[in-house]
Amino acid sequence: MSHDTTARNRRMTHFDDHDALWLFGYGSLIWKADFPFLERRCAHVHGWVRRFWQGSHDHRGTPEAPGRVATLVREPGAICHGMAYRIAPEVLGPLDIREKNGYLRELTRLHFDDGGQPAGADGLLYLATEDNAAFLGDAPLDAIAAQIAVAHGPSGPNRDYLVHLARALRELGVDDPHVFALAARLPHPAGDDCPHDPK
Ligand code: BEZ
Repeated sequence: MSHDTTARNRRMTHFDDHDALWLFGYGSLIWKADFPFLERRCAHVHGWVRRFWQGSHDHRGTPEAPGRVATLVREPGAICHGMAYRIAPEVLGPLDIREKNGYLRELTRLHFDDGGQPAGADGLLYLATEDNAAFLGDAPLDAIAAQIAVAHGPSGPNRDYLVHLARALRELGVDDPHVFALAARLPHPAGDDCPHDPK
C-alpha cells in the first residue's frame, strides 16, 4: 500500500502566490531545520496535542519494523508549542518529499509566543491523521517507548528523534508530558553507565 502524500500536497496551492508563508513545526522541524527560512519564532497552535502515533517506515523505521514519530491529535482546549518558520513557498516542495509518509499540509492559525507583532498568522503544518496508511495510533506508553527504542531507519535510530525532540522542548521551556514520559522510558544505551538525561 502506498503512503506517499506528495501528489496530494502539491495540489494544495493556498500560498503559491505569496512571497512567504509561516510553517509550524512540532516534531523534527523543531530541532532539524535543514531548509532555508527567512525568520523563525516560537509559536503555538490551539486545539492540538503532540503524540507519537504516526508510523515511520521511511525515516526512523522500515516497512517491516516501523518506528514512531510525532503527529498532532485534536484535543479541545489544548495548546501545542513548537517553532514557526517563515519560508518561501518553494521550500514546501522538498518538505513534501521529506515528509511524504502520510503527512498532509493542513491550514492552521498559529500564535507567536514572543508578544511581538503580528501576534499570529495563518500558516501551514504537516498533519498525519488516523486515515493515513502509516498511522499507528495510541498504545500504552511503555509499548510506544519500547518500539521507539529498537526501531531504526535510513535517517537513523528512532530513539534519537525522541531524545532530540525532548531536549529541544526542554530548551524552549515547553512542558510536554507525553514526550517526556516516553523519553524517560527509553532504556539506557548499552555501556552507558550514566542515567539517561533527555535534557
Ligand atoms: C514537524 O516537525 O512539525 C513535522 C515534521 C515532519 C512531518 C510532520 C511534522
